[in-house]
This record gives sequence, C-alpha cells and structure tokens, in this order.
Amino acid sequence: MIIEHIKELFPVIEDGKSRVCGADMATVHTIKDAWLLIKDGLIADYGPHPLPPPLQGRAGEGSSPPQAGRGRGGAVNASGCLVMPAFCDSHTHLVFAGSREQEYVDKIRGLSYEEIAKRGGGILNSARRLHETSESDLYDAALARVHEIISYGTGAVEIKSGYGLTTEDELKMLRVIRRLKETTPLTIRATFLGAHTVPAEYKGRQTEYVDLIINEMIPQVATEDLADYIDVFCDRGFFTVEDTERILMAGIKYGLKPKIHANELDFSGGIQVGVKYGALSVDHLEYTGNEEIATLLQSDTMPTILPGASFFLCLPYAPARKMIDAGLPVAMASDLNPGSSPSGNMQLILSMGCTKYRMLPEESLHAVTINGAYAMGVDEELGSITRGKKANLLITKPVPSLAYLPYSFGSNKVDKVILNGTLIEPRY
Ligand code: NIG
Ligand code: FE
Repeated sequence: MIIEHIKELFPVIEDGKSRVCGADMATVHTIKDAWLLIKDGLIADYGPHPLPPPLQGRAGEGSSPPQAGRGRGGAVNASGCLVMPAFCDSHTHLVFAGSREQEYVDKIRGLSYEEIAKRGGGILNSARRLHETSESDLYDAALARVHEIISYGTGAVEIKSGYGLTTEDELKMLRVIRRLKETTPLTIRATFLGAHTVPAEYKGRQTEYVDLIINEMIPQVATEDLADYIDVFCDRGFFTVEDTERILMAGIKYGLKPKIHANELDFSGGIQVGVKYGALSVDHLEYTGNEEIATLLQSDTMPTILPGASFFLCLPYAPARKMIDAGLPVAMASDLNPGSSPSGNMQLILSMGCTKYRMLPEESLHAVTINGAYAMGVDEELGSITRGKKANLLITKPVPSLAYLPYSFGSNKVDKVILNGTLIEPRY
C-alpha cells in the first residue's frame, strides 16, 4: 500500500531515539507533501513527492478522491490530511464490568475519590461487578471498547488487571486481556495489578493481602504467562512504599517489569520506589516536586501523566511543564477506567495536554506517540515514522495543521486507521 500526497507526515524519527526528552519534545520532524510505502505490515519507505521512479507505476496517481480514499493499486490519496503513528496508550484499565455513574453524581455532590473508596465504592464497586460477570461477557464489553478506541486512532494499548482482587478473578481479567491480544489488531501489553486496593475481606489485614499477591497470585500469573508488567497503586490510603517494594521484588523475580501508579493523591514515595526498581514508567504524578524530578532525571523511567483522571476527579494537574523544562520526557495516557477516567479517546488527551498542562502541540504529540510507546515497552516497533517499524498509522480528515488536532477538541479528526499494514474498517 502507498499513501500519497500526505499534507504532513510526522513525527519522523531516524536517529534511533527510543524517547524524546525535554526541549527536544518541542520539535517535530515533519515531511511535507509526503508519500509512505507499506510492505509486509511495516513502514518500508517514505519521503517527499515526487515518488521514486520504481514506485510510480503502482501509485494510481489522481485516481482517488481528495478525501483520503483508497485508489487503484493499493494507493491511498491523503491530500489535505496528516499521517502519523496511531496513538500508543500506555496506561488503561480497559477490561471492567459495568459503570459507576452514581459515584460520578456523588462526586458532583461533594464526595472525594477517597471518601467514595472508604465507603466500599470505587475500585471495590468495580471488583464486585467483575466478580458477577462471566469471562465471555467481560470480553464482549472490552471488545466494544477496543473498537471504539481504534476509531479514535489508538493502535497500541496497555491493559491492567486489578478489578479482580482474588486470584481467580485477577486471572479471569488477564485471560480476557490475552484473548483481546489474540483476536484484535491492537498491539496489547498486559499488566498485573493485584495491588490496586485491599479487598473488603482483608480490611485491617493489608499485609496478609500483600502476602497473597506475592505467594499465590504472582506465581500463577507467571505460570500462565499472562502478564508483561507488574503495577502497584502506591499512594495514601492504598499501598505503602514497603508493600510496593515487596510486591515489585516478587514480580521482578518472575520477569515482570514494574509500572507504578504513583503520587496521585499525595507525595507517596511511589516515584522514588518505582525508579529504585527500574520501573518502565511511573504514572499519575499529580504530586511531583523538585525531589521527585531530580530522581526521575537520574533514571530511564518514563514519567506518565493521565490528564483524564485529573480532569474527571478535579485533581491538581501534574507539573508536566516543569518536568519538560527540567529535561524530562513525558508520556500521556488515557487511564481509561470506570472510576477516574471513563474515556479512552486519545485525541481528547492530546487536547488536555495542551490546554491544561501548557504543553505545545508538538510536545503533546510526542507524549502520545513515541513516549507512550516507550512507557509500554513497544518503542522498538511503534510510536514514530521510522523505516522498519510496524505500519500502525492514522490518517486524519483534511485539517489545516498539527495544532488543529488539539485545538478542535471533542470532534473525531481521524479518518482512517491502519494497523499492521491493514486498513481497519470502522465499526462505529
Ligand atoms: O488509575 N488510581 C488508581 N486506579 C485507577 C482508578 C481505578 C478506579 O477508580 O476504578 C486510576 O485512576
Ligand atoms: Fe490507572
């Protein structure tokens, strides 16, 4: 397949960078009036028009309508349109049962996220619903979300367990994630999050629940090879730094690299403990000060902000501007989940990055592509326009510029999504 007459193709990364940091985030390498060739599911080549002579016969020039449409000979005419990597959403809880709009109303009435959690709402509410839902119903509900996020331009997604909170139900969630991996065109990474909250039966016996995670859950998850990563909600009212250390050490023994929920509700020490254990990413980061930034600067850990959760819970926004100005990379993810961020729309996240965090459109773009890919361990195959990477791309509708994408918040600017080199037919 050849995509031709692309108004702008970006971000082109040819220096082998696996992430983009600090001041570099503001510069996007772009090719104007570009073409891109896909072969065997990979980005084979690209450049500015005219097409090189060997490709000219194949292109079917002028045969396609102006709005990105399929022309003859596998050519797509993208005139007026932008082409970029499909979004890499490095933090979601996409597998869940039911919804929690009653808590949303309670929040409007003045209750906080933590108050709702203390009353047995929040994650425990989702855990009860998940327990009552069959694996196959859970899969169907998740599959509908997969199609929805693809239609908004997502091509890769990390999905966590954590609404099971018993060995059996955690495994059920992880099996659903595995089935999504096997049956959908998305690139998926699975994270075991048994330490999402302490289940009701273990109230007052938190250490015993941590023991269960270490002695029973992690070994079984590893035996069935159900997870790539391990996560802990290291925050005030949830798991302590000591719990987190024990769980991460146990996970690492089984080859599970950490990705941490850190500093959403307080300066929890989550960032430091994540870095200490070589976390791929630390996520949330609403409470991040100079000390945390200094720690992150000494590490390979990707700071990941979750604008949807700050917006939806009316939390403070993570100091992303300060992090980038200090030289750090930043990734952004949707955190799609029923309690704190019910949207998996990465275009909305791109807008929030600009509007609420004062990130430039270029910085936000890197945060949802290459830096998101790094945060979920797929940067070698995804996240940038690079020869040899997987052809996971999105083609926008005709739009004036990159900045128009975050600017025009709320409307779907994605016209076509190509995953593994194949055009995905929209289901919505
Ligand atoms: O990333 N912070 C912890 N976990 C989720 C929320 C889960 C829920 O409320 O269901 C999050 O925001
Ligand atoms: Fe989360």
